[in-house]
Amino acid sequence: MTFSTKLGARLILVSALLALVIGGCAKSDSPSEAPTVKPAGQKPPASTEVKIGFVVKQPEEPWFQNEWKFAQQAADQYDFELIKIGATDGEKVLTAIDSLAANGAQGFVICTPDVRLGPGIVAKAASHGLKLMSVDDQFVGSDGEFMPDVHHLGISASKIGQNVGKYLYDEMQERNWPRDGTAVCAVTFEELDTAKERTDGAIEALIEAGFSRDSIYTAPQKTSDVPGAIDAVSALLTQHPEPVRWLVLGMNDNAVLGAIRAMENRQFDHETTIGIGINGTDCIVEFDKEQPTGFWGSILLEPKRHGFDTAEMMYKWITQDVEPPKDTRTAGTLITRENYKQVLQEQGLLEAGD
Ligand code: GLA
Repeated sequence: MTFSTKLGARLILVSALLALVIGGCAKSDSPSEAPTVKPAGQKPPASTEVKIGFVVKQPEEPWFQNEWKFAQQAADQYDFELIKIGATDGEKVLTAIDSLAANGAQGFVICTPDVRLGPGIVAKAASHGLKLMSVDDQFVGSDGEFMPDVHHLGISASKIGQNVGKYLYDEMQERNWPRDGTAVCAVTFEELDTAKERTDGAIEALIEAGFSRDSIYTAPQKTSDVPGAIDAVSALLTQHPEPVRWLVLGMNDNAVLGAIRAMENRQFDHETTIGIGINGTDCIVEFDKEQPTGFWGSILLEPKRHGFDTAEMMYKWITQDVEPPKDTRTAGTLITRENYKQVLQEQGLLEAGD
């Protein structure tokens, strides 16, 4: 070893040690190292406080913001601490679970960014002794099957999808659209089971109503967001310029919103498109617009049950050992520009006067 390489090696060693020291200091500032013993007469020690994590895959989506809002209502009602974490990929999920454990949480509710992370999430939660429940997107095991042992609350996806197909057909009849020149644009995201069940259900219902399979086109999304849908549907419209009217369906509001934007770029409008989304949360801005757009309706799900009920179930599991049901399914209601304000108000999703 030459002098300079020896010096280099020493320098590396010193900086590694420094990094360790600095890292250690930084760590002690993190909540994981927060003192657990508090002065007498104040709140009980942190170790006996209930802390519940609520981890979601797309924190920017109004759907998930609503889940958090309702989970917070449960936290306020039962006086526990809710720790909200957005985790957009697998690495962030695993870090989130570690940080929940370090912060003294006893359990968490999660909508994972990838359902195939299921076995890894279960193992990680078990390693910290954390209770776990999935919401929205059900975990899939290494055998490709759902993991029925993980407590889950999600939507009745096929049924809701079928309703989308039925309502699209009804609205087309209402407008006396001829079958000729009318096609279906199904924005799909098949790697997620709840998404596939929804779009399959809608397509099935349209075929049952008499739509021919060859006028149903799929536009697979690479990412399950608005840009992903715009890209998918723009490509579809380039390949199939013939239809003059479109019925539009997708896994959620964002899929249909993206499709409608792509269609507007090709001069389709509310008279030549009928789009029905799912969620009923992400589409409100669309209904609030003065002029109608091709986004005609949405199936309003029950974000309160997804947020409040799951957090409440977790709380009771932790504090009273009441195990949640293994599988809970929720339903939906059609909303359009005509009735959305009233329905949202009834469901506590809109303050009176908004
Ligand atoms: C999935 C979708 C969300 C929402 C929920 C409902 O997670 O990505 O937009 O539809 O399902 O359970």
